Amino acid sequence: MTIEAQKLGVCYYPEHWPETVWADDARKMVDLGLKQVRIGEFAWSRIEPDPGRLEWDWLDRSIETLGQAGLEVMLGTPTATPPKWLIDQHPDILAHDAQGRPRQFGSRRHYCFSSQVYRTEAARIVELVAERYGGHDAVTSWQTDNEYGCHDTVRSYSPAAKRAFRVWLNERYGSIADLNTAWGTVFWSQEYRDFDEVDLPNLTVTEPHPSHVLDFYRFSSDQVVAFNRMQTQIIRKHAPGCDIVHNYMGFYFNFDHFEVAKDLDGVGWDSYPLGFLDVENFSDDDKQKYMRRGHPDFAGFFHDLYRGCGRGRWQILEQQPGPVNWAPHNPAPETGMVRLWALEGFAHGAEVVNFFRWRQAPFAQEQMHAGLERPNHSPALGFDEARRASEDLANLVPETDPQQATIAIVFSYEACWLYEAQPQGAGWSYTGLAFDWYSALRAFGVNVDFISPAMSHDGYALVIVPSLPIVESAFLEQIKDGTRTYLFGPRSGSKTLSLQIPDGLAPGLLKDLLPLTVSHVESFPPFHREQGRFSGTSVEGRLWFEHVISELEPIAETPNGEGLLYETAQIVYAATVPGPAFLEQIMRHVLTKAELAANKLPDDVRIRQNGDLVYAFNYGDKAILLPEETTPNSEAFVIGGRRVPPAGVSVWRTY
Ligand code: GAL
Repeated sequence: MTIEAQKLGVCYYPEHWPETVWADDARKMVDLGLKQVRIGEFAWSRIEPDPGRLEWDWLDRSIETLGQAGLEVMLGTPTATPPKWLIDQHPDILAHDAQGRPRQFGSRRHYCFSSQVYRTEAARIVELVAERYGGHDAVTSWQTDNEYGCHDTVRSYSPAAKRAFRVWLNERYGSIADLNTAWGTVFWSQEYRDFDEVDLPNLTVTEPHPSHVLDFYRFSSDQVVAFNRMQTQIIRKHAPGCDIVHNYMGFYFNFDHFEVAKDLDGVGWDSYPLGFLDVENFSDDDKQKYMRRGHPDFAGFFHDLYRGCGRGRWQILEQQPGPVNWAPHNPAPETGMVRLWALEGFAHGAEVVNFFRWRQAPFAQEQMHAGLERPNHSPALGFDEARRASEDLANLVPETDPQQATIAIVFSYEACWLYEAQPQGAGWSYTGLAFDWYSALRAFGVNVDFISPAMSHDGYALVIVPSLPIVESAFLEQIKDGTRTYLFGPRSGSKTLSLQIPDGLAPGLLKDLLPLTVSHVESFPPFHREQGRFSGTSVEGRLWFEHVISELEPIAETPNGEGLLYETAQIVYAATVPGPAFLEQIMRHVLTKAELAANKLPDDVRIRQNGDLVYAFNYGDKAILLPEETTPNSEAFVIGGRRVPPAGVSVWRTY
């Protein structure tokens, strides 16, 4: 990324508005300081109203109009919305839900990733669009499809998926005997004689075989990778040199975002802090407290995770501008938050922040979703905030390149699927654990990177592994060089690749470096607290508890001497899910062990450094004075000062 690349943009649907307003809209976008406009991702029925009859004129003219106004166009491929005629011609394009029912036309994302007909049709429309606009001066970047997986669309239980799954299994195992051994199908007489006997793991009498489920989830993720790759290969042929991105979502884990990103030039994601606060598993207290501001770590978590997936290159492709329509409740952001969220994107290294959408649609499913403008073209609440963000941006050009963080969190999509296949405790949540551990670290004001289990640990002083059930030897080798501190969470090393208990019990291969054995485990209901002591204070574990046999003396233990936390010279291991106060102590402990600063920020403040710029954000409802030891004297501030108002932002340079 070049640092001049920081831009604001907006999502626009020319097909929703009369052509007579396009030029005026484009002019207003430019006046507002917007540089990018993202279009086209749902426009198939207008591009090809009848089979083979292509209507390019309107799209030609809208791209021309936007381009002439000085906007860079990001063009989306329209494959998230196959038109009605195509579905009627090939109803087998439809995905099937876990009850085996086709998911019908009438909204969007009504396709199965395994449908061969749909692969062919999607490739055809992508080729047509890319051929026509690949060389267009105004079209500077591309988006594949829209939000893979939105509305729970990655896992399909269709006949097409069943056929493709059998082929996938055959490629993975080579022989049915190997599959039977890997899964352990002798249990309950589940043995297969041929790959063609293997069905999808739905509609079973009681829980399906967990190894079968895990492989189905792996397969479903691979189908997304292949579908996306098909599109990027076509676009690259016609639009060499243009960036290709896809828009990921918050709290969505059903495909491997690291793998999909390998075919992209960067990752995009759609950030809706208020919508996600309501739909996700936050406490009622947090839902009340942050109702109009969002959780302080929601956006940061995904900014950092997707920056990792995108190998440093990422954008916000959709930013919440006002109330959304899709959460159970849809409050409006507090004044200042739309600007804050946009600037926070740049603090985490975004190249572009696009507001969703230019103007609220007066019709259809999203008519209650705000835009920067109201349906009558008057400015909505996000409009002036977008202008402020664009004025701020002029002062926010970093003078040095973004730096690698000193701390990495290892995040594993495979772990998400494995624990979904075998939770062993209703309260256990791997993604919740990863979020809480990230949040606890960020409360110390540190930059955090995310890496996949396959990525290098080089350059990090501290590597945090909330849980990694499958530890492979290459991962172990990286730890063995002995130069970093590691923190592992419970259930690490507890399974083999095919979801069996490893020989010698958990933590499996980690035992080479971590001399302990998990003899047995318990999971608890959410109200239970497992009491213990750490460094002279009372602490508690929740949800999960491992009984450990080891010669190591635990550094935190229960009243009857069972370990909650173990330590070697290099590794700290938590045998439970630490409660919030315990977690804070553990983070302080590992930061100190890794010789990193461990200064807790005031509540609700988040800090991020990008190049030589340090940003502070106040997610609280009261003004906050930044601590003297972390802030410079007044000349260094480029925005705000030591006192940060509620929903406010301060930025300074480190010289
Ligand atoms: C996203 C989607 C957009 C729009 C938006 C509304 O999930 O990509 O098309 O639906 O949500 O918040």
